Amino acid sequence: MKVLVTGGCGFLGSHVCELFRKEGWEVISYDNLTKYELGRTGYGAEKTREYNWNFLKAMGCSMVKADVCDDEALRDYSSGCDFLVHTAAQPAMTISWENPRLDFNTNVLGTFNVLDAARVHRIPVVNTSSIHVYGNSINATLKESATSYDRDPIAIAEDHPVMVGEISPLHASKMSAEHYVRTFTDMLRTPAASFRYTGIYGPRQFGGEDHGWVANFAIRGALDWPLRIFGTGKQARDILFAEDGARAYLDYFKNPVPGVYNIGGGPAHRISLVECIDLLGEILGRKLPVEFHPERPGDMRYFVCDITAANKSFGFSPAVKPREGVTRLLKWIDENKEVFEISS
Ligand SMILES: NC(=O)c1ccc[n+]([C@@H]2O[C@H](COP(=O)([O-])OP(=O)(O)OC[C@H]3O[C@@H](n4cnc5c(N)ncnc54)[C@H](O)[C@@H]3O)[C@@H](O)[C@H]2O)c1
Repeated sequence: MKVLVTGGCGFLGSHVCELFRKEGWEVISYDNLTKYELGRTGYGAEKTREYNWNFLKAMGCSMVKADVCDDEALRDYSSGCDFLVHTAAQPAMTISWENPRLDFNTNVLGTFNVLDAARVHRIPVVNTSSIHVYGNSINATLKESATSYDRDPIAIAEDHPVMVGEISPLHASKMSAEHYVRTFTDMLRTPAASFRYTGIYGPRQFGGEDHGWVANFAIRGALDWPLRIFGTGKQARDILFAEDGARAYLDYFKNPVPGVYNIGGGPAHRISLVECIDLLGEILGRKLPVEFHPERPGDMRYFVCDITAANKSFGFSPAVKPREGVTRLLKWIDENKEVFEISS
C-alpha cells in the first residue's frame, strides 16, 4: 500500500507519515519546506525546517521537495498511490492577513490540485480542514472566577453554522477548500472527506504564537522564556495529541465514508490556556512567567469538538489525555533543546 502525504514535513504530516510507515506502507512525503510561520517563533528556523525531513528520511519515507501548486508534479507523484492525505497548508491566521494571495494559492489552489490528482487516478483523499471554518463567534460565557469559558452543551457538532463573525482570509481559504472537496465527491465521483481539526500538539511541533500554542508554551516554558498570552488566557480548546490526529486518517481509510468530520479530543480533552500553563508548570516543577497582551482580532475564544460523527463513521477515538500528551511533548523538547536555539 502506498500513501502520498502533502505537507509531510510539517507537524501533523510528519506524524501521518510516521504512522503509515510503521504500518508497513510505502510513504511519499510531498512538501516544499516553506513553513512560513517558523520565521516568527524565535527558534533556529533552518534546523527546525530540516528536522522532520531528516526524521522521515531515516524511517525510509520517500522525500519529495515540491509544491502543491504544481499540478503536474502532484499528478505524477500520486500515480500508483492508494490514498492521498492532504495536510500541506498555510495554516496561520496572521500570515493570511499579511499575504492573502499566498494563503489562497496554498490552501485553495493547492487543495484543488490535490483533489484533481485524486480524481485523475481515482484515489480516496482526505483534506485537512480546521475548526476555523466555524468562524470566531462561538457562544460561550466567561465566568470571572473560572479558568475557562463555559458552554452548554460543551461540544459543537458539524451542523453548527460556519463562517460566523469577522473572518480572515484563512477562514475563507479553509472553507473554500471544503466546498471543493464536496464538489469532487458530489459531481466528480472522487471519494473525499474534510477533517476539521481542533488544536493539535505533540513532538516535532515548532509552535508559533498563532499556530501551535501548546507547543509554543511548552518550548518557551522549557527554555525559561516568558510565555505570551493574547487575551484573558481563558480561551478553551479540546486539544488533540498528534498521534491520535494521525490515526484519524488511517481509521478513515479502513472505513471511508465521504463527508465533513470534526477531529478533536472532545469534552474530556478541554483545557484553557491558563490551565495548560498550570499543567506545564506542574510537570516542569516551577511557576512559568506569563506576559498578557491584548486579544487578537479573529481569535476564537472557545471550541470543543463533538466527535460523534467521526466515531460512528470510522471509529475515531482519541487515546492520549492532555497530561500524558503534554508530558511526552516536554520530554521531546528536553531531548532536542539544541534545535530551539534563538535565531539571529
Ligand atoms: N496544528 C494545529 O493545531 C492545526 C489545527 C487545525 C488544523 N490544522 C491543519 O492541519 C494541517 C497541517 O498543519 P500543521 O500544524 O502540521 O502545519 P505545518 O506548518 O507544520 O505543516 C504544513 C506543511 O505544509 C508545507 N507547505 C506549505 N505550503 C506548501 C506548498 N505550497 N506546497 C507543499 N507544501 C507546502 C509546509 O512546508 C509544512 O511542512 C493544515 O491544513 C492546518 O490548517 C492544524
